[in-house]
Amino acid sequence: MRVLGIESSCDETAAAVVEDGWRIRASIVASQIPIHRKFGGVVPELASREHLKRIAPVVDEALRQAGVNLEEVDAIAVTQGPGLIGSLLVGLVYGKAMALSLEKPFIGINHLEGHIHSVLLQNRMDRANDASIPAAGFPNVTLVVSGGHTCLYFVECTAEESDTPSQFSYKLLGQTRDDAAGEAFDKVAKLLALGYPGGPVIDRLARYGDSRRVELGRIRMKGNPFDFSFSGLKTAVLYRVRGTDLQAEADERRAWQNGTNQKINPEELRAHCSPATLDLLAGFQQAVVTDLVERTLGAARARQVNSIFVAGGVACNSALRDHFREAANLSGFKVFFPSPKLSTDNAAMIASAAYFRLRAGERDGATLTAHASFPLGV
Ligand code: KG4
Ligand code: ZN
Repeated sequence: MRVLGIESSCDETAAAVVEDGWRIRASIVASQIPIHRKFGGVVPELASREHLKRIAPVVDEALRQAGVNLEEVDAIAVTQGPGLIGSLLVGLVYGKAMALSLEKPFIGINHLEGHIHSVLLQNRMDRANDASIPAAGFPNVTLVVSGGHTCLYFVECTAEESDTPSQFSYKLLGQTRDDAAGEAFDKVAKLLALGYPGGPVIDRLARYGDSRRVELGRIRMKGNPFDFSFSGLKTAVLYRVRGTDLQAEADERRAWQNGTNQKINPEELRAHCSPATLDLLAGFQQAVVTDLVERTLGAARARQVNSIFVAGGVACNSALRDHFREAANLSGFKVFFPSPKLSTDNAAMIASAAYFRLRAGERDGATLTAHASFPLGV
């Protein structure tokens, strides 16, 4: 089954052609980062306008790279939510119009389900190349950690056909009560004038700092141990910066960048950062990573699973990957990540998640609409 997937929930316009849930024939992602960079975050109105401009060429390019025409597509899947409503509607309406006019099966997919499936998709591709790689197992605990979400799920596969899992169920175990982890990275980077998005740049610069010199402490909360909270940590960073030399240094960096819309070379940026700033970044990253790993491992223990999946843009973080692998090894869990390309928003994960639902006979019709808030597994 060949599925055309379309994803436009935030600031990436993406289309992909995926066969049988795992053979990626094409995956195109048109990033809007240069448009939003000067604002230090995604501007919803600009995002939907940009999706409008790009959706048709991005879908055409995915079909061209896959070497198929629309007639040769078996079904069309779109992201239904959660996300920015104007952005979501562009991809959803485009895909729906195509499906209706071509009389193809059509389905809406939860963006978070897509992220969860990115891990399985990666694993199935890896195992096709190297059968000695362990299969990403079920049930598992999945951490979806991105700019918009920080959620922990208990994921079960309710039916397994030979080597191909078929139906899934999701239970939300906990989520952030305030900022998402990626949002905290982006806000700290903005505060310190390090450019946008903040995650990749902090990942890079933190390697030159010493987290032991900046102890930001554990994130403590009452109630559900699998919930997250990152706004306090962001405020702790703010207090260490405000009115200090670090603030003056950040102001200088801001003036140096002078509202540039260009991506700043990380090495050049590093030359504009004092050791104290690099230590603060290392301390901040360490605090986020420790919290994500500990709560996820706690959930995996509570649910008595063997496998942990980690997905979403923050899953690209090198310290998070290292720390997860180390901690999982010590505790006897297997941990699975998608490649960085499949960790950030993409349409291959939407097409892949759709495959299993379509195969089970699920279809949506002309009344399908987008939802900015669209919980999974509650
Ligand atoms: O999954 P994604 O592309 O979009 C959302 O659904 O939000 O994630 C984007 C987020 C941004 O906040 C970005 O700063 C963060 O992922 N990110 C990272 C890294 N790469 C991207 N955060 C930490 N370390 C990274 N290497
Ligand atoms: Zn996402």
